[in-house]
Amino acid sequence: MTEIVRLEGLSKTYGMGGANVTALADINLVITGGEFVALIGPSGSGKSTLLNMIGGIDKPSGGAVYIDGQRIDTLNEQHLLKLRREKIAYVFQEARLLPSLTALENVTLSSAFNRKLNKNCNERAMELLGKVGLAGRAKHMPHQLSGGEAQRVCIARALFNQPRLILADEPTGNLDHRTRIGIVELFEELHGEGNAVIMVTHDPELAMRAGRTISLHDGTLQTDEVRAAQVG
Ligand SMILES: Nc1ncnc2c1ncn2[C@@H]1O[C@H](COP(=O)(O)OP(=O)(O)O)[C@@H](O)[C@H]1O
Ligand SMILES: [Mg+2]
Repeated sequence: MTEIVRLEGLSKTYGMGGANVTALADINLVITGGEFVALIGPSGSGKSTLLNMIGGIDKPSGGAVYIDGQRIDTLNEQHLLKLRREKIAYVFQEARLLPSLTALENVTLSSAFNRKLNKNCNERAMELLGKVGLAGRAKHMPHQLSGGEAQRVCIARALFNQPRLILADEPTGNLDHRTRIGIVELFEELHGEGNAVIMVTHDPELAMRAGRTISLHDGTLQTDEVRAAQVG
């Protein structure tokens, strides 16, 4: 399988006016296409910081980040933005939708930046809204959606771009059990197509569904387990 994420000696220190906080220290990691990784660890262990480094949202203090073989931590903003639009989708813990656009328009938003997606984009968005159980909410505005529904729109939007890599930071926290499993099934479909998913979760049942579980402790990798059934 091709390599999607490579981290080499990655570290991140936040300067807090004299007092430094080391959020990540010397992380080495390779994630390949087809992997579904659950990222676990106590609060403050560096999970969100790690996703932000991989997603190019923030720059590391040391080391290197490669996505699809390309080093990204040294890219300028413009190139980084392009790479993110083309390859990476982020699902945050709280739904972030544009308030003036309908659910459907929020899903198709990225097609405006990505020429290869312009064909049939409403059709594809409707299909994805159906998959997250929101076929009947396409014309709703964000304020007309519940928190869980808004989050499912975000997940449909993330999948719309057919990203190489999905980064999801506790994306199912606000959702009921059945919806959570449905979301994870969508992620499973995506990584089955040779893409990679990294999902932060506190839910042991969801973590069990991932083929690989990585745990962080105090900014370092503590365990990295691949479940035998899903290898290969
Ligand atoms: N923007 C920031 N400025 C300063 N410290 C931060 C910032 N973001 C995170 N931290 C610190 O880095 C550590 C890791 O945080 P985080 O990655 O958010 O952990 P997690 O997502 O596992 O709860 C924590 O000690 C946190 O306080
Ligand atoms: Mg976090």
